[in-house]
Formats: sequence, C-alpha cells, structure tokens
Amino acid sequence: MPKINWIKIFDTKILQAADFVRGLEISGKRLCIVKDGEKFFATQFYCPHAGAVLADGWCKEQRLICPYHRYEYDLKTGRGAPGQGDYIDLYPTEVREDGLYVGLPEPGFLKKIFRF
Ligand code: FES
Repeated sequence: MPKINWIKIFDTKILQAADFVRGLEISGKRLCIVKDGEKFFATQFYCPHAGAVLADGWCKEQRLICPYHRYEYDLKTGRGAPGQGDYIDLYPTEVREDGLYVGLPEPGFLKKIFRF
C-alpha cells in the first residue's frame, strides 16, 4: 500500500458552498475536485479520452461529464460509462473539523517499487 499524504485543500466554508466542479493544483499535481451535495470527489485533471480538462465539465448523478465529447465517469469507481472502456484515477477525500482534505500517494511511490 502506498503511503498517503493528506493535504488540506479547503477550509470548512466549502461545506456550505453550492455544488461545483473545479480544478486545483496541489504540490505540483493538478486535480479535478467535485462537490455533489455533501460528497466530495477528487479525480485526475485530464480526460483519458482526448485530454480535455475535466474541471471544465459537470457532475450529474455522481458521474463526471467531460465537456468535449461528453464521456461519463462514475465518481465512486472511476469507471467510464459502458462502451467507453476507460476510467479515471480517483483520490480519497475526507471532511475533517478544519476543512476538506485530499489524499495523494507519496511522491516517488512507483519509482520505489519499480526502481526507475
Ligand atoms: S476528451 Fe473527454 S470525452 Fe473526449
């Protein structure tokens, strides 16, 4: 299991914010953050289909819709809709007393395993 670094990305005011899909850069890594009701999701930044910015898309019934060709990704599993044959990376999120955190794998995790 990779070591997870939990990073605070918003303070508690975000809990009252309207739902959104927005991009964010944390420690040099770009992410797409989605608020859907009381749930938060963090995904990869670019669409695996043709590289659109997923943060320019929208959320519908806990699916992230890419703005370019409207491919859909399940925000709970990362799987693309049937027939797409693709998926997006998801990162854990956690609401704590002082705000919203996202968990990112320790930098260099793959390098350590595969000795690049
Ligand atoms: S680039 Fe996202 S659906 Fe085509």
